[in-house]
Amino acid sequence: MNSAKLKIDDKEFELPVIEGSEGEKAIDISRLRNDTGYITSDTGYKSTGSTRSAITFLDGENGILRYRGYPIEQLAEKSTFLEVAYLLIYGELPTSKELEDFTSGISRHTLIHEDMKKFYEGYPAKAHPMGILASMISALSTFYPDAQKADLTPDEVDVTVKRLIAKSATIAAWSFKKSQGHPIMYPQNRLSYCANFLHMMFALPTEEYEVNETVEKALDTLLILHADHEQNCSASTVRMAGSSHASLYAAISSGVCALWGPLHGGANQEVIEMLEQIRQNGGDVKKMVEKAKDKKSGFRLMGFGHRVYKNFDPRAKIIKKACDDVLEEFGIDDPLLDIAKSLEEVAVSDDYFLERKLYPNVDFYSGILYRAIGIPTEMFTVMFALGRLPGWIAQWKEMRDNNEPISRPRQLYVGHTERDYVSLDKR
Ligand code: ACO
Repeated sequence: MNSAKLKIDDKEFELPVIEGSEGEKAIDISRLRNDTGYITSDTGYKSTGSTRSAITFLDGENGILRYRGYPIEQLAEKSTFLEVAYLLIYGELPTSKELEDFTSGISRHTLIHEDMKKFYEGYPAKAHPMGILASMISALSTFYPDAQKADLTPDEVDVTVKRLIAKSATIAAWSFKKSQGHPIMYPQNRLSYCANFLHMMFALPTEEYEVNETVEKALDTLLILHADHEQNCSASTVRMAGSSHASLYAAISSGVCALWGPLHGGANQEVIEMLEQIRQNGGDVKKMVEKAKDKKSGFRLMGFGHRVYKNFDPRAKIIKKACDDVLEEFGIDDPLLDIAKSLEEVAVSDDYFLERKLYPNVDFYSGILYRAIGIPTEMFTVMFALGRLPGWIAQWKEMRDNNEPISRPRQLYVGHTERDYVSLDKR
């Protein structure tokens, strides 16, 4: 086995080097504190591997993304979201029988308890759907308390997995209905996962509603592209919350909250708001690029840059193409798409962005595609969450199956050293 040498003062320590299946190398520091008294310091985990995972391989330098070894390009073209969900969670592509059982199992769990319906009455009309999604998923744990058991059987885990995937779509669609003041639409189990979601979002009891196949396919592709992305902020949150043996519902709800922020999943909503702002200001993309380069402005070009991708984001390529296809099929002329394309052109040839390797990420074009298929801006991050759900579940399951210890990082304390309490009258 290879090893790395660490010299502290005049003492030398040998640290094992471990290698991943794609040749990635890591220095195993798990015994560092025990053996040396030192810890490592890496705010934001830029050089820290938190786990060994067999779910997703990502090579940021070369723009490679594979789920369980299968390239994202092949899965986006040939697979379906539920097939990908099965692949991520159980490790292999399902046989037809396995896929049928998985799909029908999910269809059987799309209803949410009628008592949960009452929760919607309590949310304010302007409640952000991510807040509703996180709290409703957390509330599911109160309806299925068995999921909290320490010794879950594989069948018990499977039923929670199906409930989560099925009910999250219902919860999400109903949060949109709530924002519209429209009556909720119950799920239709004869429909595919995406068709059922579109039905719950857009059907009204007063009219016939037929799901458009192009829209259904585009949505399916978007969900596949978002299904997992290894140890990102939300997946790490799910693993961390789950490492305390909190239930899968609690862990996923934490993941939804982590995804919400504008530096993570919330970026897709911010991209559209930014493009809209450029349009209202006369379409001057250069001005926006200059603003993003000016550190004092505190502004960043939303949908640009990625912690891991430093060349291109393979998902952005697929989405850009899907976006063109859908807009062409529906004859939609979205001025925001033109603004997005000019913005990309200006930014990718600008030294600031080139030097920092900042390219459009998955969120740059996903918002335009969501708009084209009728999903309102506030729901974008919820769509991301629905797509990411199987990935989060797979990450949670892997962590529990591998019996990983509770996550508990160390810190470097930089606060006051010991001092005596000062009474109120002397302050
Ligand atoms: N616009 C302008 N400058 C940027 C941008 C941007 N979008 N992104 C990074 N930079 C600059 C930083 O100011 C920094 O410059 P400096 O070296 O002169 O200080 C440099 O590029 C490196 O940036 P970091 O913040 O250190 O990179 P990090 O890996 O920590 O952040 C992140 C990655 C959060 C995605 C960042 O690029 C960003 O904020 N992008 C905009 C938000 C966004 O699109 N998020 C979605 C990410 S994809 C996803 O979650 C699905």
